[in-house]
This record gives sequence, structure tokens and C-alpha cells, in this order.
Amino acid sequence: MGAPTRITLTGVFGVGKTTVANLVARQLGWEVVDADDVLVSIAGKEVAAIFEEQGEAAFRETEAEAFRQMEGRSGLVVAAGGGAPVNADSRRSMVEAGLVVCLKATPETVVQRMEAKDQHRPRPMLAGDNALARAGRLLDQRAAVYALADFTVDTDGMTPEEIADEVVRFYQTRGERPGRVEQLTRTPSILPPVIDAPNATTTIRTASGEYPAFVAWGALERLGDITKRITEARRAFLISDDAVMGQWGETAIASLREAGLEVASHTIPSGDASKSLGQAAEVYDWLASQRAERRDVIVALGGGMVNDFSGFVAGTYLRGMPVVQAPTSLLAMVDASIGGKTAVNHAGAKNIVGLFYQPKAVVADAATLKTLPKRALVEGMGEVIKHALIRDPELLAVLEARLDDLMALEPELTTQVLARNVQIKGSVVSEDERETGGVRELLNYGHTLGHAFEAAGGYEALLHGEAVAVGMIAAAEIGRRVGITPEALVHRQRALIERAGLPTKPPAGIDRARVTAALSLDKKIVAGGQRWVLLEDVGRPIVTSDVPKDVVESVLDELLA
Ligand SMILES: NC(=O)c1ccc[n+]([C@@H]2O[C@H](COP(=O)([O-])OP(=O)(O)OC[C@H]3O[C@@H](n4cnc5c(N)ncnc54)[C@H](O)[C@@H]3O)[C@@H](O)[C@H]2O)c1
Ligand SMILES: [Zn+2]
Repeated sequence: MGAPTRITLTGVFGVGKTTVANLVARQLGWEVVDADDVLVSIAGKEVAAIFEEQGEAAFRETEAEAFRQMEGRSGLVVAAGGGAPVNADSRRSMVEAGLVVCLKATPETVVQRMEAKDQHRPRPMLAGDNALARAGRLLDQRAAVYALADFTVDTDGMTPEEIADEVVRFYQTRGERPGRVEQLTRTPSILPPVIDAPNATTTIRTASGEYPAFVAWGALERLGDITKRITEARRAFLISDDAVMGQWGETAIASLREAGLEVASHTIPSGDASKSLGQAAEVYDWLASQRAERRDVIVALGGGMVNDFSGFVAGTYLRGMPVVQAPTSLLAMVDASIGGKTAVNHAGAKNIVGLFYQPKAVVADAATLKTLPKRALVEGMGEVIKHALIRDPELLAVLEARLDDLMALEPELTTQVLARNVQIKGSVVSEDERETGGVRELLNYGHTLGHAFEAAGGYEALLHGEAVAVGMIAAAEIGRRVGITPEALVHRQRALIERAGLPTKPPAGIDRARVTAALSLDKKIVAGGQRWVLLEDVGRPIVTSDVPKDVVESVLDELLA
């Protein structure tokens, strides 16, 4: 870069960019431009109106156009919109034009500064109640793109004049940095970018229609907007369980209301016992008393239990109401919410009454995992590891390299890993919606024995994901003994399962006879014998019924010893 004649200030709204931009411009004798003013003049309407009428994606496009229009102008301090660097084109424009400085602040500071000033232009991303929580989420969500700046000023406790001095000092001392543009415009990750992506993470295509899945840190903020766009509903009927309602109900309801939907909510007790026809009857009564109509929407906020149950209710009430799945457990995000399998338990059998019923959208807010009990988080890792093993060597490598960060829910990584899992499950479902012998069967890796262990433990000794972990250990060992699975993979899989805190054998007291009995009851059996998904390698699963009974018996002997 030659002598840079542009400084772009980024950072979340409320941090003080406009004020600081004016002060910096005065010191340097430059001009000030508020990027929002440029885009408002391009669009011919206010920021809030563009958001409202066209959505965030269109807004970001207009914003990118505003940066293009400013190309070539020099002697300029630009105050960029808070979300501008999320768009790759806008980011590149800023970086190529000159220095990019990020003004950083804690959510508390942001909200304070925001309240202190006269707001002539309300901010859609921070609109509504609980601005502090929203500011926190936005900062989390955008941390990775804000990190792509030449210089960052921690502005907490600083006056605008002090901040401006810092910016000018940096401008005057900055040196040449080869490779800077590449470095600052790169997409911040080895996996596809999803943080606050205005568009869906993936689209699931089934015979009964296509639907988008959104994965983002803070996605619940957009639940209302997405629901509103995707359905014709006037009213949303939110179903959740007590644990989830207490933690995330308010955020979900606020988002739905802000989008202009009327909201009524119903809470069922946590736990799989709620997945029953009796509970469904109660919810039908509630829907009837509320005069729910066919074009209204059911929103399922919760773990796999709530997702399965609400999907079932939605699929059967009025012969089918639209449903939006908002999964809040890891298992639900990567598995239960996608694919349209809905069911209740009946007469002691799990998921025995149900239907394939696809949602209109899946909105997975990675941040909700922060309140998920640890055992449930670990459990979900069973399915995450399974997805990597059957479909994605790169994901497996990411899990091995960064498992601890993932278990600590590092936002960027968590969001990306979730997105990848949703894509994997979505692509499998798109290829084989109803599990009719196609690729969907591959998702049953670890499930043949997994289901048997789960049932033998009365669905309590082992949670589903835990049982799948043990089932994968068993499947790998069976695969090794029949000459399909390489020994190195057996070890690699075991190491990851152990590190995730998942079990590698069934707990003591699991009755061998019950396992064998459950095996022959497994609904995945087709005529001709037991079907096994075995791994030839990472990403190379095969299905075979050609496993001698005594191999299975001896692996069981070892696991249950
Ligand atoms: N449809 C499918 O394809 C499919 C696939 C796998 C599992 N399932 C079903 O999913 C269910 C298991 O899912 P699960 O493990 O999510 O169980 P779950 O829904 O019962 O959730 C586990 C526990 O965590 C709580 N919880 C969930 N999210 C939370 C959050 N963000 N904060 C605080 N607490 C939270 C719940 O209240 C519950 O107590 C089973 O019913 C299973 O049959 C369905
Ligand atoms: Zn499973």
C-alpha cells in the first residue's frame, strides 16, 4: 500500500465510530463519511426500512455497493456499519482502500454509549428489549471478522478524544506489511463461513419440499424474521419444555413478536416421558382452545424430545401445520431437528408412533448450548463424531485438533462444526428422505448395537449418544475382525470417543440377554439378517449383512465382561 489516505472504523454499533471518525478527520484534515448515509442514499430508504422490507441479505448487498461507490476517494475517514465487515466484498473494499481500525468495547460500554446518545436511526440488530444480551451476542458473533483489522483499540473507559488520538498515532506509525490484503480479507477459518451469514447454512431438499437450515451464534434473534419470511403465519405457537423455556423462551418469543407474529406458548415437562400420545392430546386441546389455524406455525424450541414431539403434533393437527425447528441441544442440532423424523413413544417402545414430516426451517442457535447440561453436550458429540467418521475426514481432523475448544463452546469453532454437521445430515437426508435402503442407512453407523445397549439399559443407563459411542466401538471392532476396518482407525476412533468423555463400553449391570433381545427387535433389520454399517476408512462406510454371528457374540462378550 502507498501512503494510505483512508481510515475505516469498524466495530459494533454504539461503540462511538461516528464521533471518533469526526475527531480523527479533524486532526488529519480529512473528510468524514458515514457508510450508512451512502447506502441510505443508494437505497432511497432508511436502514431500518431496508432490513424490514428486504431482510439482512439485501441490506448487506446495498452496503457492499456503498463501499464500491466510495472506491477511489481519498482523504477520508469512514465510519462503517457495525455488520459491514461480515460481508466479504465490503471487507475487501475497506482493506484495499486503506487502514482498517476496529473499536472494541464490552457489551456494557456499548449499551451505555448507545443510551447516552440521541438515536435518530434505530439499529435493527440491536432493536428490542434486553439490549445488553443482544450486544453481547452480536460481539460474540462478529468477533472473528472484527479481528480482521490492521489495529484494534480497546475503548472501554476512554474518551472519544483519547480514542481518536490512538487511531491517529497508529496511522502515523504504521509500517508496510506485505501480504496484508490477503491476510485481512481471508475468510476466518478452515471451514465455510457461517457467522452471521445472511443466507442459510444449507438447504435440505426432500420430496415434500425444500427448507433452509440456519446455524449461527445468536440465531434465535432471527427466529422471528426467518419464520415470518418462510411461512404465511399470523400466529406462532411455541412449544418447549420447562428447562429450555426458562433459559431461552424469552429470547425466542421476543424475536417472534418483533417480526410481527402473535405468540402463544406451551411448556411440557422435560424428559422423554413427555413424548407420549397423552401429552400430544393435551397440546391438541391447547391448540384447539387457541383456535390455531392451518396456516399458523408451530415453533419447536428445545432438544430432540421437543423437536420430535412438536414435529409429530404439527404433522397431525389439522392434518399438518407448518413447523419451524429451533433445536437447543447438540443432539437436536446435528441430528433430530433435520430430516423430518417425528414420533412419540408408545407402550414402552421408543418412537413407535410417528410420521415423516419436514419442517419449514431449522434455526439452530449455537449459543443456546451454553446452558445445556454437560452430559447432554457430551452425548451429542457421539453423533458429531459419527458424522465425521462416515462422511468427512476434514471434520474428523478438526475434532481431533480442537476438541477442547469445541467442548468449551468457542463460538466460531462451535458454529462451524455445527454447520458442517447440519450440512452432512442435510445432504444425507436430501439423498434419501425416507431411509429406503439408500445413504440414510449410513447414519446408522454405531446404531445397530447402540440401540440395543440403549434399550437394554432402559433408556436411562445410557443416553442415545452414549449408546452410539459404545455401538461405534463395537462396530469398529467387528469391522476389524471381518477384515474391513483398519486397526489404526479402530484406535483413532476410540481415542476421540474417550477424549470427548463418552463411554467406550456399556455400564456394569447391562443384561446380556436384553441386549440380544433388543438386537432382534431393532427396526433397522431388513429381511435377510442383521445389517451392519462398517468403516473401510474415514468417510468410507459400507453396509453389509455378512457378519458371522459368532463375531458379534465375541465382541459382545468382551464389551460386557
Ligand atoms: N428425529 C430424529 O431423527 C432423532 C434423532 C436422534 C434423536 N432423536 C430423539 O431426540 C431425543 C433426545 O434428544 P436430546 O438429547 O436433545 O434430549 P432432550 O430433548 O430430552 O434434552 C436433554 C435435556 O436437556 C435439556 N435441554 C435441551 N436444550 C437445553 C439448553 N439449551 N439449555 C438447557 N437445557 C437444555 C432438556 O430439557 C432435557 O432435560 C430423543 O427423544 C430421541 O428419540 C430424534
Ligand atoms: Zn442417533
